Amino acid sequence: MTLFRGTLLDTPADPFTGGALRVDVDGGLLVRDGEIVARSAYDDLRRAHPDEDVVDLRGGLVLPGFVDTHVHFPQVRVIGGLGMPLLDWLDRCALPEEARMQDPAYAAAVAPEFVRGLASAGTTSALVFGAHYAPAVDLLFEEASAQGLRITSGLVVSDRRLRDDLLTTPARAHAESLALADRWHGVGRNRYAVIPRFALSCSEELLAACGAVLAEVPGAMFTSHVNENEREIAEVARLCGTHYTGSYDRHGLCGPHSVLAHDVHPTDPELELMAERGTTVAHCPTSNATLGSGLFPLARHVAHGVRVALGSDVGAGTGFSLLKEGLQAYFAQQLLGPDGYPLGPAHLLHLATAAGAQALGLGEVGDLSVGKRFDAVWLRPADGTPLAVGLAHAADGEDALARAFALGTPADVGGVWVDGALVGETAAVR
Ligand code: GUN
Ligand code: FE
Repeated sequence: MTLFRGTLLDTPADPFTGGALRVDVDGGLLVRDGEIVARSAYDDLRRAHPDEDVVDLRGGLVLPGFVDTHVHFPQVRVIGGLGMPLLDWLDRCALPEEARMQDPAYAAAVAPEFVRGLASAGTTSALVFGAHYAPAVDLLFEEASAQGLRITSGLVVSDRRLRDDLLTTPARAHAESLALADRWHGVGRNRYAVIPRFALSCSEELLAACGAVLAEVPGAMFTSHVNENEREIAEVARLCGTHYTGSYDRHGLCGPHSVLAHDVHPTDPELELMAERGTTVAHCPTSNATLGSGLFPLARHVAHGVRVALGSDVGAGTGFSLLKEGLQAYFAQQLLGPDGYPLGPAHLLHLATAAGAQALGLGEVGDLSVGKRFDAVWLRPADGTPLAVGLAHAADGEDALARAFALGTPADVGGVWVDGALVGETAAVR
């Protein structure tokens, strides 16, 4: 067994329904075979277990590993394409790069960049838009397995609107998705997701094929995009003859296993439907700002009881850090004035951890309670850096957490653990 020692912050009780941030200064976690089996003040735990190895994580903050509920594998190399709205950005930036993934050698080079990007930002679990090509999706699962992350992903499918080399057919999408699910779903920490790119690029027949795969793979997830951009939404309404959420729901895709990204411009009936289905919205604030998609109406989601978590949406999003996404989520609500939802540090941590774990159906992670797996990130800024100065002057745990969101970057990540094991190259070297 291993005893982890540090300042522990997590949100086992939902702050959106009155739960408070849990703070344990000099807390201890006893971890056996990746599971947290005891938790208390470090000194008490040490007295009870004097012979166990101690991992000393003082001098920073220990948080649950971040859960990124929306991120695109084939877009690592196009982060930073500024100045375009969604549909132009797709045509000029994202889709040409995604087409390069048909070359397995290219995909094999991108996969470690992507998985390392997640891990080095402190992300331990993610729902990932794979590629439009099955061999590239295999490479992603292989790399995630090698580095040890919890990945849910799958083949991205489309059969209209995009460039020809990204298109498939319903029959091919069905066969390739099932074959991939067969290879990866439930293997190690991997799980499969059914991923029509967005209703704009998917015919009714293709969405029906997605519904069939979802029904045939027990425990699989569904994810896509929804209500991101006004022009996109108008085109979907014209093509589908329903509201955006309905285009998925009528094929049985919406449920508690579903994550829809963005939802910047929902109608009330859609929010009601999402709440009824238990579907989660992945809020992607840096992407929404980069593409000028709009300010996320969080208060309306909360009022309707729609579940919300955070996504980086790399590569429209500007990096892998859920600290940055949390800060940008806060900014967006501030900019909404009286329509904004007042987010505090506990809300931000919850959105970046427990809410994401719930969205992905990962009951075994999300906070640092006894019985959970030890998936954690240690923020350990180097001496003299802005975050180190900020933490040194924090009034309490909540204030320290606010400073982590305001100042923290992947450079401040001192270590990342999944199932109690240090992930690859994330150990602090200082
Ligand atoms: N809608 C369809 N595809 C995409 C994508 O790759 N990124 C974003 N932000 N929205 C999308
Ligand atoms: Fe996206």
